[in-house]
Amino acid sequence: MLHKNRKRFKVLGLSLITIGLLSGCGSSDNTASSGNYKAFLVQTSLPSLRLLPVLSDEDANPNDNKSTYTLTANKNVDVAIETPNGNWVTPMWRYNNNTLPVIIKANRGENMSLKFKNKLSSDSTIHWHGFKIPADMDGGPDFPIAPNRTKLYSFTMDQPASSLWFHPHPDMQTGKQVYMGLAGVFILEDEISKGLEASNQLPSGDRDITLLVQDRRFANEANGKRELLYMNQEMDMDGMLGDKVLVNGSESPKLEVGTAKYRLRLYNVSNAKNYDFAFTDGRKFTIVGTDGGLLAKPVTVNHIFMGAAERVEIIADFSKDSVGSTVGLVSKAFEDDTMDMGATDTGGMDNMDNMDTNPSTNMSGRTTNGTAVNIMRFDVTKNIDDPTTIYTALPAHAEIHTRFTADNADNKGNERQFNMTMNMNGSMGVMSFVINGKAFDANRVDEFVGANSTEIWNITNNSPMAHPFHAHAIQWQILSRNGVKASGTDLGWKDTFLVKANESVKIIGKFEPVNQGDYMYHCHILEHEDAGMMGYFRVGGSGNVNKK
Ligand code: C2O
Ligand code: CU
Ligand code: CU
Repeated sequence: MLHKNRKRFKVLGLSLITIGLLSGCGSSDNTASSGNYKAFLVQTSLPSLRLLPVLSDEDANPNDNKSTYTLTANKNVDVAIETPNGNWVTPMWRYNNNTLPVIIKANRGENMSLKFKNKLSSDSTIHWHGFKIPADMDGGPDFPIAPNRTKLYSFTMDQPASSLWFHPHPDMQTGKQVYMGLAGVFILEDEISKGLEASNQLPSGDRDITLLVQDRRFANEANGKRELLYMNQEMDMDGMLGDKVLVNGSESPKLEVGTAKYRLRLYNVSNAKNYDFAFTDGRKFTIVGTDGGLLAKPVTVNHIFMGAAERVEIIADFSKDSVGSTVGLVSKAFEDDTMDMGATDTGGMDNMDNMDTNPSTNMSGRTTNGTAVNIMRFDVTKNIDDPTTIYTALPAHAEIHTRFTADNADNKGNERQFNMTMNMNGSMGVMSFVINGKAFDANRVDEFVGANSTEIWNITNNSPMAHPFHAHAIQWQILSRNGVKASGTDLGWKDTFLVKANESVKIIGKFEPVNQGDYMYHCHILEHEDAGMMGYFRVGGSGNVNKK
């Protein structure tokens, strides 16, 4: 049964990729006619950005070093989708019947105790993306929670302050459940992050804003509602793309800001879409954090390219803007990665004049990945006396200062190899999404890693499109890309990183004593993962998966 389903995915995938390769017309067909960013800057009908609700600790004692939460996965929660062209209602799947994804906040060292109730009609789990926790708490597909069952997740988090998240991870249903609306934010703080806030070296409070960016496709209205469409087009197996990009559940929202620095936690929690984030005036901004925590030294850029599941924390500086002005955050057009990802290296703002107000579809009728899109707008409405001066180096005891070299690796000279391919099999041209030639098997452990070891993994992409590679349980340091030493934001800790077509990314990381058991590595294009571009690795001597 399971096998049959996965096979069907493959067969479906085949025609799609074939079409994609033949018609790879990239961003050249953008319909620039529907407007440019200048119109966006003065548009009067933008909805207001909604802030994500923060769950409160149920034990009502903020000082007991324990966090207690309940998350219930519900179906059919009516959500108002707000857009510049009017609002509508869409039934979604959400935690705790909340209309928006929720935020959980915790401090390093706290014991988390979280009761999960599955009110869906299929198996689910909660996977803690980016957390260093034991495998039986990690919410992988080998610990499914059946409908109407509960599970208590309990773990202690001992890792640096970071912008983490959580989402379902059941076998072959991850893409669908995340797409339907199940995902949440987990913000971990520590003494360093709190110290930087207290000394005005990082914006905090209402100038620390979480932005969840997700693309979706909606059906036409029926019975007063617009249902979400999932995998209803031939190309979707190549990665589910929507034609509407939502930020915290709204399309192109605006946020009123003061003349000050803001910390924006940018989450790309789309199923498959990449973004090339930049401001409409090309202004520089400062990146202070990546997936696994704050950067040792902030990095100044004028755009940042992000694959699915990656996060960055940026400092946007509005202190020199005048009250009454607006500036947009957009995703620039880039070469559709069906063929290649060359656009990541063009630092300029060259595509700005082609800025398109609406994502469009390409000539094959498929929503494209690289179409320019308006993400949100900042409206400067008040003067603020802002004392913030961003830190220039993290305190000396921050773990990120310790950089591993090949000499630290237990597998030096025998690096673990992962080769991502999309294979055409047999005369029917069946397409499969595999790593090291193998599709995911729920009963097979693919890699055995020694307890407490430090390893170098080499991830190679021999397919025509970029894949965001992710491994559970660990935060990696990137050593090199195609042999070129890591620099810039690649010096931050990463749990997910894009591997472009024909690229090899070498990473190093240490498995901690808490890492015991079976974990996943996979492409974080969720449709690729569900189709089998995933494997198990076992840390230490035992796990939960029956190896064949
Ligand atoms: Cu965010 Cu295995 O996933
Ligand atoms: Cu994960
Ligand atoms: Cu992939």
